[in-house]
Amino acid sequence: MGLFTKKITLNDLYPKNYVDIHSHLLPGIDDGAKDLEDTLSLIKKMETQGITNFRTTPHVLGNVWDNSSALIKEKEALVKRELQKQGLHHVNFHAAAEYMLDENFSKLLDHNDILPLKDQYILVEMSFFNPPFNLEDLLFQIQLKGYIPVLAHPERYNFYHKDFSNYKKLVDAGCLLQLNILSLTKQYGEAVTKVAHKLLKENLYTFVGSDTHHIRHLNLSEKLATQKNKKLLTPLFENNLKTFSF
Ligand SMILES: [Fe+2]
Repeated sequence: MGLFTKKITLNDLYPKNYVDIHSHLLPGIDDGAKDLEDTLSLIKKMETQGITNFRTTPHVLGNVWDNSSALIKEKEALVKRELQKQGLHHVNFHAAAEYMLDENFSKLLDHNDILPLKDQYILVEMSFFNPPFNLEDLLFQIQLKGYIPVLAHPERYNFYHKDFSNYKKLVDAGCLLQLNILSLTKQYGEAVTKVAHKLLKENLYTFVGSDTHHIRHLNLSEKLATQKNKKLLTPLFENNLKTFSF
């Protein structure tokens, strides 16, 4: 077995105090954790893998996941109380959101009703079918309000796969790109993995996140624990740490 294919553990892959910045762990408000019990079992599993610091980012998507900031904060408080009750004092997390770039988001932005990942960083996503017709304007509006858009899983937007210059345009428009770590597994298909590797090679990503929705995602992440991935992902891990440490 070569040096780079050598298996390590996830505890060795992630740096000390690693901060995951994308997950769906609040109970019952999107397609992530189903209930409080599910939330806690996911957090405990993450702990065994070396992740005790994270942002959780429920979907905010008009007419589908109409989660208000107040509801997200309420669920955050509920989970924090339960963590204390169960003695998990070393787990640090904040709730933010993953905002779909839709009309509902524009309204929230107008009303300054945004939950950032931290400071000015906000996590946004697009439909998997097509980009919003007013994407450039939306990115401009976000920055006009003083925020920095962090675009989740750009490698998963198939409509960009044929023309790689689209990714450079996003970065030039002020977007920071966040790799879904599971894009390096078979989770989203070969084409996604290929584009993820190309974006890594071209240094177009800034951050990395797990986008954990359920236990299958965490189980699959075990496959990522190799020296090769550690080398590949360390610059992104360091950016996560630098920007989002508690
Ligand atoms: Fe997500």
